[in-house]
Amino acid sequence: MTIAESIFHRRNISPDAFNGQAIATEVIEQLLEAANQAPTHGYTEPWRFVVYESTAIKKFTSEHADLYKANTSSEKYTEANFLKIKHRGDKASHLIAVFMKRGTNPKIPRLEEISAVACAIQNIWLLASSMQIGMYWGTGGMVHHSAMKSYFSLSEEDEMMGLLFLGYSDLEWPKGRRIVPMEEKVQWIKE
Ligand SMILES: Cc1cc2nc3c(=O)[nH]c(=O)nc-3n(C[C@H](O)[C@H](O)[C@H](O)COP(=O)(O)O)c2cc1C
Repeated sequence: MTIAESIFHRRNISPDAFNGQAIATEVIEQLLEAANQAPTHGYTEPWRFVVYESTAIKKFTSEHADLYKANTSSEKYTEANFLKIKHRGDKASHLIAVFMKRGTNPKIPRLEEISAVACAIQNIWLLASSMQIGMYWGTGGMVHHSAMKSYFSLSEEDEMMGLLFLGYSDLEWPKGRRIVPMEEKVQWIKE
């Protein structure tokens, strides 16, 4: 697949659509190498990954659900959400937690560090899509809660970027859709 084909092929694939088939470790390593080629301002390379596979996925999602239970008021808590978080990765081959590790160079704005990690995630997503590997970028549950930062021993300045669920799927690859027309997004200046 060419890069252009991969860009247009890439979709968010729900972990519910995964078939449980394992992705080879070398492929995951290749995806992480692709992430490592993302651009940064000042060679800060702020992306950090925790890769879960096999039974470690269930252990993490279970602990994520426990974090939700422990940090959600009784008015907001629902058992359905608890179970959704707990079982999100049941059919995934790998789950990658992605962080932005804030560097020590104060000249690099935090926004640029976050942008660089988003580029790294997109590299993983595009390469995975080109291999017909499904990926889901999840920021639900406790991902943006301070309890998650504590769970991963992140500092205040670091950022939890999301959970990437990866797996193969037997279902038809979804079609993309965009809602806002290009004319609203692009301004051409010709003179
Ligand atoms: C920063 C970010 C966070 C996201 N978080 C979620 C999420 O929590 N749940 C979800 O279903 N999709 C999430 N997505 C995926 C989007 O829903 C998905 O990319 C969007 O629907 C467009 O679909 P497509 O990627 O297949 O074109 C996230 C995407 C980004 C870029």
